[in-house]
Amino acid sequence: MPKRHVQKGLWNHLMHKGVDFGLASIIYEVAVASKYIVHAMRTGDLGLAGTSNLYGEEQLALDVLANEIIKDRLDHTGRVKSFASEELDDILIFERKGHKDYSVVVDPLDGSSLVDVNLAVGTIVGIFKGENLLQPGKNLVGAMYIVYGPRTTLVYSAGNGVYEFTLNSLGEYVLTQEEITLKDSNKIYSPGGLKKDYTEKHAKFIDFLEENGYKLRYSGGFVPDINQILLKRGGLFTYPALKNSPNGKLRLLFELNPMAFIIENAGGMASTGKERILEINPEKLDQRAPIYIGSKEEVQLAQKFLNE
Ligand code: F6P
Ligand code: MN
Repeated sequence: MPKRHVQKGLWNHLMHKGVDFGLASIIYEVAVASKYIVHAMRTGDLGLAGTSNLYGEEQLALDVLANEIIKDRLDHTGRVKSFASEELDDILIFERKGHKDYSVVVDPLDGSSLVDVNLAVGTIVGIFKGENLLQPGKNLVGAMYIVYGPRTTLVYSAGNGVYEFTLNSLGEYVLTQEEITLKDSNKIYSPGGLKKDYTEKHAKFIDFLEENGYKLRYSGGFVPDINQILLKRGGLFTYPALKNSPNGKLRLLFELNPMAFIIENAGGMASTGKERILEINPEKLDQRAPIYIGSKEEVQLAQKFLNE
């Protein structure tokens, strides 16, 4: 008998891997939300005839709309207590009855200004057990991101491997790569920030990479830039401390921690240049930090340059 090839969908995979039901529900509902976000991006803001907005007549900015979609889907799981988003000033406590044993941080549509020029953008999510969102990223129990590019892909880790799924034409996320791991080194670099604002130590580090044949791969979208490093099995992304912004640009809770969790789970590293990103104890929701993230050797090299 020929073996029937059964494609593994996201929910089956989560159950097969023994991911806790509440955590799996959260990951799954974000995946559902992402399909509505894709739809909104394709039709929403273009003024196409016959397009309707899920949230009434008013056309919301895409990042605000993405936030509403994710917030509603997460509330719907009944498993989320606290919710923080790059789009909101304060933590939101969901009122719905349920177990509510998780809390979630979200960057609903990172790089949203790139939608207009048709470059890839993404959604980033971090998941904690309990209700406290202001805790170090090492306490995350899961993280995921979605890349809206030529394909829509979803990458998640629940602390037990890193997996990639691709949205097919039936609207299902199907497993496309499992147990993704980074090589110790890879000659790709993705440098954020303006060169004129670099600190001397960071400038020397970047010079070193350039002199040693590292290939520049920077799209200006954090999610696709990290995704490239993950799926090319290594390299380095940095958004450094700059002369006038010592904490860089990217946000610890919504952007850095979830990505650091995923990259570490793939065998890579994430550092401010001085300390492990996941060790930082956040004091406020919109805290920023510099980041060097990717393969071990490149991150260690950055640390060496910065601490000289
Ligand atoms: O969220 C901020 C963001 O858009 C990231 O996606 C990206 O990595 C970064 O800003 C790019 O910043 P810059 O335009 O300063 O290089
Ligand atoms: Mn962002």
